Amino acid sequence: MKILITGGAGFIGSAIAKSLIERGDTAVLIDNFNDYYDPQLKRDRIKKFLKGYEKPARRGGGFTLCEGDIRDRTFLKEVFEKEKPDKVIHLAAMAGVLASLDNPALYVDVNVMGTTNMLDFAAEHKVKNFVYASSSSVYGSNEKVPFSEKDSVDAPISVYAATKKADELIAHVYSHIHKLPTTGLRFFTVYGPWGRPDMGVFKFIENIVTGKTVEIYNFGKMRRNFTYIDDIVSGTITVLDADLPCDVMNIGGDRDEELLDYIAAVEKHSGRQAQKKMMPMQPGDVPRTVADISKLRKLGWEPTTRIEEGVKYFVEWYKEYYKVA
Ligand SMILES: NC(=O)c1ccc[n+]([C@@H]2O[C@H](COP(=O)([O-])OP(=O)(O)OC[C@H]3O[C@@H](n4cnc5c(N)ncnc54)[C@H](O)[C@@H]3O)[C@@H](O)[C@H]2O)c1
Repeated sequence: MKILITGGAGFIGSAIAKSLIERGDTAVLIDNFNDYYDPQLKRDRIKKFLKGYEKPARRGGGFTLCEGDIRDRTFLKEVFEKEKPDKVIHLAAMAGVLASLDNPALYVDVNVMGTTNMLDFAAEHKVKNFVYASSSSVYGSNEKVPFSEKDSVDAPISVYAATKKADELIAHVYSHIHKLPTTGLRFFTVYGPWGRPDMGVFKFIENIVTGKTVEIYNFGKMRRNFTYIDDIVSGTITVLDADLPCDVMNIGGDRDEELLDYIAAVEKHSGRQAQKKMMPMQPGDVPRTVADISKLRKLGWEPTTRIEEGVKYFVEWYKEYYKVA
């Protein structure tokens, strides 16, 4: 099949593309290579991580890259008409929780208008499934854990979270009116090689490996279901293959872990002690995100990578990519 992946040069998009090509699918990647974080890393995901997977690839159909913006309807029209994708994985977004408070209009523009454009073209071209990225941040400061898809998510505490909730509502309309099969995936703290430099899970490695001070918010009282990138890839592909009429699902690791345990794993695998600076909570951030993943498990998916193992791969990749001795 031909799968259109927006945010294809991103952390999650490039990893999903690689897996799909390896099993024989063709990937069409859309990305605008914006500078929210170092665009060179995005270029390198295409040039180095996906090296040898260009169309035609040794295995599978390979990928083609369409550089452009999901807010540009002329560009999207051309891509859909030329490529005629069977299914869509829509991941392109402005993804920073805190940054969304400084630049709300941009977040609404890309995440809500961009997603609406994607739904529109997907419905018009009758794609067989539209899987899109939501986020665990839609749960806001809900205190009942684990977070279940049945819980109310009407009280977001960042513009970013509000845009993801809006995407879920708009996707529901397209499923209902246009019978476009859609599933939103609420990702929980994804980490691993080729990760995103703006995320805490990346910064901890960067600062510990290079001997810089590590800022730890909420004085270390943070808990997360850290999710290794390979588990996100397998879960997303499971949902891509399921073609559900209209759904929203959590996708996260199966363990509720202390942030300090993640940091301890980084210390172990980098062989360096963290210089910790305990800080208060940041606005828009939440102290605890714990996923109830029973819904996705019913489709046969299971997260398999423990943080011990995942952090090891992440640290190894970091040292190699940034040439740290
Ligand atoms: N990584 C996580 O822990 C996490 C958690 C929750 C949700 N998500 C969501 O998952 C999706 C993928 O996240 P990621 O971590 O891979 O982020 P990422 O920033 O690495 O990938 C997103 C990609 O989209 C591209 N993009 C942004 N705006 C665009 C536009 N207007 N037009 C075309 N391309 C555009 C970016 O250049 C980037 O390469 C996002 O929607 C994000 O909100 C991620």
